[in-house]
Amino acid sequence: MSSLALVKRIVLAGVFALSMHAASAQTLPDDSAGRPAAPATGLNTDKVEVHEQQLLGEMRKLQGFITIPDTRAATLVQPDGRSWRDYRRGPLLWITAACVLGMLALLLVFYAVKGEIKIAGGRGTATLLRFGAFERFMHWLTAASWCILAISGLNVVAGRAVLLPLMGNDAFSLFSTWAKYSHNFLAFPFIAGIVLMFLVWLRHNIPNKIDVEWFKQGGGFIGNKHPPSEKFNGGQKVVFWIVVLGGGALTVTGLALMFPFYVTDITGMQLAQLAHGGVALLMIAAMLGHIYIGSVGMEGAFDAMKDGRVDLKWAREHHSLWAAKELAKSGDTSPHPAE
Ligand code: HEM
Repeated sequence: MSSLALVKRIVLAGVFALSMHAASAQTLPDDSAGRPAAPATGLNTDKVEVHEQQLLGEMRKLQGFITIPDTRAATLVQPDGRSWRDYRRGPLLWITAACVLGMLALLLVFYAVKGEIKIAGGRGTATLLRFGAFERFMHWLTAASWCILAISGLNVVAGRAVLLPLMGNDAFSLFSTWAKYSHNFLAFPFIAGIVLMFLVWLRHNIPNKIDVEWFKQGGGFIGNKHPPSEKFNGGQKVVFWIVVLGGGALTVTGLALMFPFYVTDITGMQLAQLAHGGVALLMIAAMLGHIYIGSVGMEGAFDAMKDGRVDLKWAREHHSLWAAKELAKSGDTSPHPAE
């Protein structure tokens, strides 16, 4: 905002406050404590204190007149902004805790009950190429930027309540400054990763009858039977669509927030912020599940994104149709790197 606009805004605020004060002093009787009482309107039949809240309830905005081109500067107070702030300081913190801590607790319980899902009879000797270098690059580009976006985003929502008391003002301020820069700049590699994943993996993620059967059989999580699956099973297709659609929604709302008021007004900004935070929280909960199963939750799964080659026995158990097709195509199996 230019300094002229700022001065005008301050003067406007002063004039407004003075006129409100003068009006109430002239027209309203004082109560016993010396506070002015509200006028008797249709809404307020009793003698009540004049509260800002009452004024705001009756006027959707406290607005003045200005002559500068930026007409938004005429709005001094917008009540929805307060509801938005109250939501962020209260319910949103609880929703965040439920999504992050609740999901972590669920995964801990799942791990305690089920343990690591093992390859039946242990690892074999042969491996099969599952993801090429480019697929692994786009996965880790998305995953690495997403992790920093998630941490820096959670800091915006809960950092003040959780980290500030632990870190103190200076450290929290430095951390938050870097977190904010990271959040803004890493949005771009994340968007690039989402677009690449969509283009490269779309053909493997069209839902079909095999997925329905996979879900009917509990995805192999219930009991020890592994339902047949192509390159991606039904559960992974759900992850793919959460990533693509969630990532798409985060991109649209995130860009609206990054370039304020270019495409929307204040209400739109508030809605964009609510949608951005809500989608991000759901996605964090879903991705915690994905990270669990892609690392400690399943023996042999991480190899696919480490060097691209998976144990043939693992491939036959979890992606039998894909493994059969790959073997028929190239027959390219090679021993584990360590053997
Ligand atoms: C940071 C920890 C992560 C680990 C350890 C991890 C691990 C893995 C592994 C091992 C696979 C291959 C599974 C297979 O061979 O069938 C995979 C696939 C995939 N990952 Fe990740 N991942 C991580 C984070 C992410 C993030 C943050 C995203 C997206 C925001 C993501 C999106 C995907 C997608 C879309 C797939 C293909 C579908 C699927 O397998 O579910 N990953 N990941």
